[in-house]
Amino acid sequence: MHNSFIIIFYCLIVIILNACSKNNEEEIKPPTCDTSNVTYSATIRPLFEQHCTSCHSSGKINLTDYESTRNLAIRGDLMAVISYNGPKKMPPSGKLPDCDIARVRTWIEKGAKND
Ligand code: HEC
Repeated sequence: MHNSFIIIFYCLIVIILNACSKNNEEEIKPPTCDTSNVTYSATIRPLFEQHCTSCHSSGKINLTDYESTRNLAIRGDLMAVISYNGPKKMPPSGKLPDCDIARVRTWIEKGAKND
C-alpha cells in the first residue's frame, strides 16, 4: 500500500518534470527562420531595397542591380559587410536581423542566381 503510493508519486513527478522541460524547450527555441524559398526577386532585392538602396543605387555599389549585387556577393564583400565582422559594417545604422543575414548567405551559397 505504502509502496504503491511512492510509485504513483514518483510517476507524477516524472510526468510534471517532463511537461516542464518540454515547455522550456519551446521557450528557448529561437524564432524560426525559413531559408528554403530564398530567391533574388522575392527575397534579396526587396531586402536590399529596404535597407541599402537609399545609399547604394548607382555607381560601383548598386544594390538595385542584379549584376552589381552578384559581383559583391561572389567577391565576399556582401557577407563581409552585413555580418558585421569586418572593418566595414552595413547598414551603418545597425545590423540586419539574423534571419535576413541567413537568407542572404543561403542565396549566395546556392550560386547567387538571378531567380
Ligand atoms: C546610410 C547610407 C548607407 C546605407 C543604408 C548602406 N550603406 Fe553601404 N556604404 C555606405 C557608405 C558611405 C560606404 C562607403 C564608405 C566606406 O567605405 O566605409 C558604403 C560601403 C559599402 C560597401 C563597400 C565596403 C568596402 O569594403 O569598401 C558595401 C559592400 C556596402 N556598403 C553594402 C551595403 C549593404 C549590403 C547595405 C544594406 C544592407 C548597405 N551598404 C547600406 C553607406 C550606406
